[in-house]
Amino acid sequence: MPVNTITPPGSTIGILGGGQLGRMIALAGARLGYRSIIYSPEADAIAGQVSAGLIQGSYDDEAALARFAAQADVITYEFENVPEQAVAECERHRPVRPGIKPIHFAQHRLREKAFFRQAGIGTADYQPIGSEADLAAATALPGILKTCTEGYDGKGQARVTTRDGLKAAWDRLGRRECILEALVDFQCEISAIVARGLDGTTRCFPIGLNHHRDGILRTTTVPSGLPETVLARAEQLGVQLALSLDLVGLVALEMFVTRDGRVLANEMAPRPHNSGHWTIDACATSQFEQLVRAICGLPLGAVDVLAPSRMENLIGDEADGWLRIVADPTARLHLYGKAKVRPGRKMGHVTYVGSWDPSPPNP
Ligand SMILES: Nc1ncnc2c1ncn2[C@@H]1O[C@H](COP(=O)(O)OP(=O)(O)O)[C@@H](O)[C@H]1O
Ligand SMILES: [Mg+2]
Repeated sequence: MPVNTITPPGSTIGILGGGQLGRMIALAGARLGYRSIIYSPEADAIAGQVSAGLIQGSYDDEAALARFAAQADVITYEFENVPEQAVAECERHRPVRPGIKPIHFAQHRLREKAFFRQAGIGTADYQPIGSEADLAAATALPGILKTCTEGYDGKGQARVTTRDGLKAAWDRLGRRECILEALVDFQCEISAIVARGLDGTTRCFPIGLNHHRDGILRTTTVPSGLPETVLARAEQLGVQLALSLDLVGLVALEMFVTRDGRVLANEMAPRPHNSGHWTIDACATSQFEQLVRAICGLPLGAVDVLAPSRMENLIGDEADGWLRIVADPTARLHLYGKAKVRPGRKMGHVTYVGSWDPSPPNP
């Protein structure tokens, strides 16, 4: 790889967004000798606690974005809801990796599903719901009604079984532009996290087995114990997605494994993903380091599993159990430095490495 395409250690990584993912990108960058600068609407963003600097500004403040970009050598984002214009403004000054295309599709569930299909990646049946006529024509029932934009951790979603229920749910969601997805009777949920380097090389982390409760990820287990054919298919779809997005960086693809062994895409995130946190403690390269390597033009790191592991999210007051967790020799505790505990808020996670209880977690 030509040296002039490399952003070397000592350079500064700009990160749009100041949450836990930005924080863990900054920590991984620091280990390789990079500085990070955070852009966030919040002055006390938790990523700022571990970074060389933070610029506070809204995502439509062009002057602040330009000041931020001027201090960075390369820029990435830690969440997919950064407005496209903010990324475009940064791109006028510095390379933003993975750029506008991935967020254009990841920000909007209908666009995202259409993109999957066009890339040859199967999904559940789905229909747009944006009018009374759409309600009357709906057939993907039972299903899940989701707002097209701004949903996360199960928010902005409703399970519906009948047309009347669908109408009531759409009213409750403020009659916003929605997607109705047929309910998938899945055997399990998995995710592929794929990195693509500046030279076009792709590498997929071992597939994680994910358990959700109330729409929020609770645990990720690796190895997943799934058949090789399913794992190979999931990896293939992840790589196909990264290539279709012309990505330089990282993309996570959440998938359902149906009872008959088919693999269907659920959603994507062009950034590090909660289901990849286990890689910090149990993989040769963490997903955060892999992102840094990709956007800085370094060779991608090895993705060998070093030990079996299970990541558990610490949600709301679960983080109060930190003292018990740090006393457990199999536990690696990560707390995000969030000042306020709120129900449903991700406060940290713990990865049990090597000898976790192999019984399945509470569904
Ligand atoms: N079509 C579906 N069929 C069955 N379960 C679903 C479907 N869509 C979502 N879910 C469940 O809800 C969870 C959250 O939905 P998802 O679309 O991933 O939204 P979020 O952005 O909130 O993560 C999924 O991980 C899965 O457990
Ligand atoms: Mg999801």
